[in-house]
Amino acid sequence: QPVTVLPVPFHYGASRPGAEGGPQAVLQAGLMEKLKLLKRTGTLHPPFEWQKLSRDRRSMERMHNWGRVLTMSEDVAEAVHAIAKNGAFPLTIGGDHSISIGTIAGLTQHIQQLGVIWIDAHADMNTPKTTPSGNIHGMALAACLGLGDGRFTGLCGVNPKLQSKRVVLVGSRELDEGEKRNIYGSGITCFTMHDIDRIGMARVMERAIAIASYGSEGIHVSFDIDSVDPGEAPGTGTPVRGGLNYREAHLAMEMLYDCGRVTSADVVEVNPLLDPSGRTARLAVELIGSLLGERIL
Ligand code: ARG
Ligand code: MN
Ligand code: MN
Ligand code: MN
Repeated sequence: QPVTVLPVPFHYGASRPGAEGGPQAVLQAGLMEKLKLLKRTGTLHPPFEWQKLSRDRRSMERMHNWGRVLTMSEDVAEAVHAIAKNGAFPLTIGGDHSISIGTIAGLTQHIQQLGVIWIDAHADMNTPKTTPSGNIHGMALAACLGLGDGRFTGLCGVNPKLQSKRVVLVGSRELDEGEKRNIYGSGITCFTMHDIDRIGMARVMERAIAIASYGSEGIHVSFDIDSVDPGEAPGTGTPVRGGLNYREAHLAMEMLYDCGRVTSADVVEVNPLLDPSGRTARLAVELIGSLLGERIL
């Protein structure tokens, strides 16, 4: 299946700039060459216009830059829907994690009962009521589940876009109090770092894949690079220690490829301003390789 890479240079869902440079850093680290190596037809979608995304200045205390995030989400949803409709695999490169509001809105217009595996140090399960920061990247998954502000939950006219029984968090280790309530209240499954420590990444991913597959037409992988330990992935805006090690991250991606049900992915929160060495972007390319079938032997 051909892959269409959609770069979304956007940081207004986060508290600090830098993530808008993520797509360029990942491309520069050799993303298209990696696809070629794997014999996948790779097309690069033209990136969204930075200026257009910056124009809308509507904002509020509990939803910073909501106008820009909404404009971006509508554009991303339309582009991702078109890519999926064409039969290609949409690979969206962020940008901060608010871009997933757009990708999931676009995907659910095409794929029925989408399953989602959200690999992240955080849950992104805040709403404007529970957010401690006002940053919309911390509310992205909640919005897809119908929690939060109607401008986002109602995007593309379907609300909720996801059903909690097919939504799984993997790698969580920093949850706000309100998010914990939203996780329990919504009924999604959450495999924290504690679960990975106890039963291992292999068993966690087996369960995650089974849950996201149940009755779904496809699985969307939303991969926040801050799921990986900051020792391996320092270039990200909200690092949290105690993360996935290098092999755990690869194993997760390899198992996702092997399950044969992954139909799209986002790789987000790469911030090259915080990593002049470029190793975070290179790691992102390697992990995408594993997700798309690269093997050691
Ligand atoms: N929970 C915090 C917040 O709501 C941090 C969220 C970080 N999210 C991310 N996609 N990196 O602000
Ligand atoms: Mn995230
Ligand atoms: Mn369609
Ligand atoms: Mn995160």
